[in-house]
This record gives sequence, structure tokens and C-alpha cells, in this order.
Amino acid sequence: MMKQDDRDRQVGRYKMLLCVAAGAAAGVLITFIAARGVVTEHEERLTAQNTELSQENETLSQENEELRTQKNKLEAAEDSAGLLSSDSENWAIALVNEGHPLDTSYVPAELTEIETERSVDARIAEDLEQMLSDAADEGLSMYVASAYRSYERQREVFNTTMQDWLTQGYSPIDAYDETRKSVAVPGTSEHATGLAVDIISSQYKELDDKQGDTAEQKWLMEHCWEYGFILRYPPDKSDVTKIVYEPWHYRYVGKEAAKEITEQEITLEEYILGQ
Ligand code: DAL
Ligand code: ZN
Repeated sequence: MMKQDDRDRQVGRYKMLLCVAAGAAAGVLITFIAARGVVTEHEERLTAQNTELSQENETLSQENEELRTQKNKLEAAEDSAGLLSSDSENWAIALVNEGHPLDTSYVPAELTEIETERSVDARIAEDLEQMLSDAADEGLSMYVASAYRSYERQREVFNTTMQDWLTQGYSPIDAYDETRKSVAVPGTSEHATGLAVDIISSQYKELDDKQGDTAEQKWLMEHCWEYGFILRYPPDKSDVTKIVYEPWHYRYVGKEAAKEITEQEITLEEYILGQ
């Protein structure tokens, strides 16, 4: 039989052992919790760093995209003939105006006749035909009065108009200046790209501002961007385009550029060269 004293001592030893074990367990637990805290903190730091890096990456991608767009636009202004004949996806935004002439030997690689003696660059034929067909479905009647014009043809158009001014008594210099407001100087006309068309209402065939009031032009002005076209010489932008309001002259620039130009109410010059 164990004595009472021995039993008490044994119980005391158990208690002590229990305390030591509990202490050890608590220690392990505290160490574990502390370690978890450190790991969690580390994880949070890594997540934050990751988020920061993703944002930096996104900013760099955006900057890269902007630089690429800028480069494309400069290309569009610098060598329009080169761009037009290239495989570049930006061929349609080639800028041709008095400050950015088109190589006089440029001829579109493939022309498609959309109406008798009216041809356009084959790459725009489908969109143009769709636009004309959708307009016809709306009960509108219009026709293409002018499309691709060679350098020689542009010279004839220019000389004929200049002659009209001379006949009215203008001096050669003044006649030349008046003419170039409505007919591009040969070598600087978009018609030589095969991407420009003059579309006229069958109800009103005059080439004046009232052409813009016809149902045909109203429809075209509202919808042309959907087919990749823009009204190239709007009424309030002559100071930028250097050409008077031409409610009949539509220029193919591709659907993406047409949407942006229309939404921002800018010209091709502003789109390419900045506001
Ligand atoms: N009428 C436009 C400006 C041209 O001659 O190209
Ligand atoms: Zn025109």
C-alpha cells in the first residue's frame, strides 16, 4: 500500500509534468501563432508587391501601346504612298493633303469598279458597296460622282476650276488660291489614293452647301463611320483641312479610326498629327 505522503508526491509530480507539458504546448502554440503572423505578413507584403508590379506592367503596356499608335500615325503622315502599298494594318489612315503630298506615280495596286467609270481601291469596295446598299434599303437615292482620280485627271479638274475663276476676272494667283480651297492641288488629292468618293444625292445634284441638307447626305453623315468612312471636309474645320465644306466627299479610313474621328468630332489631320 502506498502511503499518503507518497501518493501526494506522485500527484504533485504528475501536476508538475502536466504543467510542463501544458507550458511546452502553449510555447509551441505561441511560436506557431507568431510564425503564422510572420508568414501572413510576408504573404501580404508579397501580394502588395505583386499588385504594384501588375499596375506598373499595365502602365508600361499602355505607354507601349500609345507609342506604337503614335509611330503608326507618324508613318501615316510621312510616307503615304509607302503606307498605302504596304501590308501595314494602317494603310487606310494614310494622310494626303497639301502639306502631305502623295507620290505622283502612286496607283492603287487593285482597283474595283463600283459604278461605270468609278473605281476605288479594291480594299474598300465591300464596305462602300454595303453602305450604298444599306442607304438604298432606307429608300435613299444617291450615286458616286467621282472616285479614284489619276494625277492627270486631277490636273484637268484643277485647271477647269481655275479657268472658271480666271473667266470671272481673278488674277492667276487669286484664281489659283480660290481653286485650291475646293480642288486639291494635283499630287495632293485624296482621290488619287482610291480611298475617297464624292457621293451625290439624286434629288439634288449641285455641289454646294445645300447638298448637305439632303436626306441622302444626312444619312451618310450619320452612318458613314459604321462602314469605315468619314466626312472628310466638315463645315467648321476648313482652317484645319484647308478645304471648304464638302458635304459629298467621304474618305475611307477604316472602321476603328472612323469611329474615333467621329466620336471626337475631329479631322484626319487632328487624328494623325494631334489636336
Ligand atoms: N475636292 C477635293 C478636295 C479634292 O480635289 O481632292
Ligand atoms: Zn472629293
